[in-house]
Amino acid sequence: MTYLLALDQGTSSSRSIVFDGQGRIVAQAQRELPQIFPQPGWVEHDAMEIWRGQLATAREALAQAGIHAREVRALGITNQRETTVLWNRATGQPIHHAIVWQDRRTEPLCVRLREQGHEALIRSRTGLVIDAYFAATKIAWLLENVPGAREQALRGELAFGTIDSWLLWQLTGGALHATDVSNASRSMLFDIHRNRWDDELLALLDIPASLMPSVLPSSAAYGPTRADLLGAPIAIGGVAGDQQSALFGQACFAPGMAKNTYGTGCFMLMHMGGRFQRSANGLITTSAAQASARPEFALEGSVFVGGAVVQWLRDGLKAIRSSAEIEALAASVPDTGGVTLVPAFTGLGAPYWQPDARGTLTGLTRGTTIAHVARAALESIACQSAALLQAMSRDAQVAGGAPLAELRVDGGASVNDLLMQFQADLLGIPVVRPAVTETTALGAAYLAGLSAGVFGGTADLTALWRAERHFEPAWDRGRAAEHMARWEHAVRQATAS
Ligand code: G3P
Repeated sequence: MTYLLALDQGTSSSRSIVFDGQGRIVAQAQRELPQIFPQPGWVEHDAMEIWRGQLATAREALAQAGIHAREVRALGITNQRETTVLWNRATGQPIHHAIVWQDRRTEPLCVRLREQGHEALIRSRTGLVIDAYFAATKIAWLLENVPGAREQALRGELAFGTIDSWLLWQLTGGALHATDVSNASRSMLFDIHRNRWDDELLALLDIPASLMPSVLPSSAAYGPTRADLLGAPIAIGGVAGDQQSALFGQACFAPGMAKNTYGTGCFMLMHMGGRFQRSANGLITTSAAQASARPEFALEGSVFVGGAVVQWLRDGLKAIRSSAEIEALAASVPDTGGVTLVPAFTGLGAPYWQPDARGTLTGLTRGTTIAHVARAALESIACQSAALLQAMSRDAQVAGGAPLAELRVDGGASVNDLLMQFQADLLGIPVVRPAVTETTALGAAYLAGLSAGVFGGTADLTALWRAERHFEPAWDRGRAAEHMARWEHAVRQATAS
């Protein structure tokens, strides 16, 4: 029997999943990750807690599968991207909490970079827009604000890493300071055409090159885990940022294939093959997971508040007791009764990029009930995703690509049938849910399995992908257009407030 172990370190939890050689789940374990909110707009994680929690789930998953580490052919890592850790190379201790991707503290530095006119350079080298979302300004903030950090960095004593690098360092007992191209491409410091750190951008942000990890393909022999951690050394064979990993796990390998992950946020990625396509419609260009040294790209749109709007209904409004209840509450009314919710709680990401936008609820009447608001909350997830897809289709058309034939979906909220049907109605193309919705972890297992020789190539993975359900669009296009016009109108109000 072949086993692959995937470590999936996400924003709200750490998970480990054991897969068999057919990509089926054998066992899984999960730990919640506490969020630290030191000030409004700031989000941090305790990097040591991430490591301890992740290791515990890996051990638990192996125990649940009833297998020994020796039986695992390879290990893959996938992770929340952009979240930034600086640690001391000698002690292995972080010098500060990790600054999470959602953290907005570095917006003033971003404003300065925009005002200084660096947008075009950053866009052409890295594929990104200037935003606090990416790692570069978070590193700059740590060097500036943690006492002694810059001096230590200049002496070569510190290491930077996103969570993949941090886990690689820990798993190898400090033997490896590395990352993969898909994670590196989220830093705003990485030349995605040449697959290497960009000296000009490092200098622009005053970040010493000695901090940076070495960059490998996403599927590669990274090295063995320390023997005592899991019972035996396991070959680390794959590393990818969670969204690129999900694109891989959804077997979207050909240009024009796309997936949307409905998690805390929503992340839509379309594979672009070897072609660097600059978005003219508010998306970013990012490195896809790569099994060789040849650059491959994806167009990406990120919605900052996706499934998190359901948590807000549950924890903020106390309208539901558990997230699962939203489907029944939303289905208890035939429509939103004209209510539109724009959940711009932390500004708006792609395709709007409005950091100052705030949440807006419009169209309220005396007859509005919490069920209408719940339905509007669900619809906001689909409307934001539809806006991304429209932008993506326009970009793909410019690149001479065919219109998108279907959207593959995954992530927690993809189990919500009402949401998926609404998504298909809005988009006008089938929405397809795979049999295994743990595609993020699956992607990491596949990347690891490829480098370990478990799979011959991506054709093997395409053959393993199975649909569980197709949601066919039922609306005429006029109705969908009307709905999106109402949404865009509400977005304009959110960005004006
Ligand atoms: O870019 C942020 C993304 O990688 C976080 O994903 O699933 O941990 O919310 P998730």
